[in-house]
Amino acid sequence: MPKKSDNVKKAARTSAETGLASYRRPREPINLVIFGGAGDLAWRKLIPALFDLFKDGCTPESFAVTILDAAPIRESDLLKRFHDGVRQFSQNRLRESDWKEFSRHISYAKEDFTDKSTYSRLSEQLAAMEKGWDARAVSIYYLATPPRFFSIIADMLGKAGLNRKRKHARILLEKPIGHDLKSTLEINRVITARFHESQIFRIDHYLGKETVRNILAFRFANLLFEPVWDRRYVDHISITVAEQVGLERRGSYYESAGALRDMVQNHLLQLLCLIAMEPPVSFDADEVRNKKVDVLHAVRRYPVELTGDYAVRGQYGPGRMDGRKVPGYREEPGVAPGSNTETFAALRLFIDNWRWQDVPFYLRTGKRLGKQTSEIVIHFRPVPHQSFPLEATINWMPVSLTLCIQPREGIVLRFQAKRPGAEVVLQPVTMHFSYRDAFGLPSPDAYKTLLWDLMIGDATIFMRADQVEAAWSILMPVLEYWDTHPAADFPNYAAGSWGPKDAETLVARQGCIWPFPTSLPPVHPAVML
Ligand code: BG6
Repeated sequence: MPKKSDNVKKAARTSAETGLASYRRPREPINLVIFGGAGDLAWRKLIPALFDLFKDGCTPESFAVTILDAAPIRESDLLKRFHDGVRQFSQNRLRESDWKEFSRHISYAKEDFTDKSTYSRLSEQLAAMEKGWDARAVSIYYLATPPRFFSIIADMLGKAGLNRKRKHARILLEKPIGHDLKSTLEINRVITARFHESQIFRIDHYLGKETVRNILAFRFANLLFEPVWDRRYVDHISITVAEQVGLERRGSYYESAGALRDMVQNHLLQLLCLIAMEPPVSFDADEVRNKKVDVLHAVRRYPVELTGDYAVRGQYGPGRMDGRKVPGYREEPGVAPGSNTETFAALRLFIDNWRWQDVPFYLRTGKRLGKQTSEIVIHFRPVPHQSFPLEATINWMPVSLTLCIQPREGIVLRFQAKRPGAEVVLQPVTMHFSYRDAFGLPSPDAYKTLLWDLMIGDATIFMRADQVEAAWSILMPVLEYWDTHPAADFPNYAAGSWGPKDAETLVARQGCIWPFPTSLPPVHPAVML
């Protein structure tokens, strides 16, 4: 058995090697129970991220991962599947000796989440673990299940007394949290009846992305940008999360979700919060979440019948992606032939407060778009007076700042420079900051960060009940309108294009255009911010 000090040294060394200097080994033992853990999420994200934490010496010395699922699968087969997931998705090279050591911590039980006896067996198992470790463990109940199980599981955990130790029991809900405001209120009501808010972690994996976490660092650790971060200097802001992928075998889920529920309600509105929030007094979890929820409360609401003025929906038809033909949404497995589900959504929002009054925020997201890219562009106003002669300003473009969230990670500032030569000719140029060039390492996967925060009990990058509810309340009129007024023009964009024409019109009304995806240079940039 390795000595504790050896492990701590190993943790420090491996964390430093991977650039994760601040990750440390949680002190208390952890019992992680994943409900629905035989599904895709555990295979693709959770187990590979846990493996990475394990490799970095950032899992506690004593920990167990218990997978509970209704799937009729043998433990050995599930472990083979996890092995394959780690091979494909871990950020570390998979060495068999590491896998052997790591997989000893994982067990599987086929269980019915609605059955009382499941929870008494779980309770006995958790107690036995603690006895074996001779220490009190933190139990984490990770609900990687469809939302219809959230209330049932929370309730059953409560009845079995597994919620009682407030500092030693946490529950995590995967998105989607609810289907609309009403169902979310009900989930929150049941969960909060069984668990204290400080025990509840609601995940939005975008908040675990390094580039998303950097938004607050960029805004509030640099004096330069914050003074111009308001309606006096900003013309409009656009947030794009464009995906090239289609449904990836999730037809039946997506049919009942659509782009607005799947992406806007959570990921895009969280990005909006980070861009628009006021400076927090501290990075205390509730302080940050208070400031974010203030943004959501300030988003202008419209009556249902005005939906068409600020919201656009789309659905992809057949098209070409990277030179190959791809089917339309209605031809995807699990999708109804006349489906009315949107695979694209764009919104124009206003935030009614002193900082942002009348500044449009354009949000768009879609599947099967021309390029995979997530970026936020702050478009600054033109200069108040153009002193240069007209011929010098032919190429003139306003200053913009682009936060590249993924797949390239960095920041690009565009401004004007004088082109070298006798004549004064202005030309837009860019300065780049690229994570890879600055830090030399790939950023940790979002789930690694989220799981680590979950283990140490830091809820700052998780969503509070009121945030989720406020986000739903913004979208309810749109959902209501779209549900009751089926789209007459679906499919209205070809796979591989940039979405429906109406999305262009939405921004053109204020004289704007959607920005073309910014690319960071592939080699070392000449200038770094
Ligand atoms: C998930 C959505 O929350 O986010 C998926 O359910 C989407 O539909 C995914 O593809 C996108 O995440 P990422 O990290 O690949 O941008």
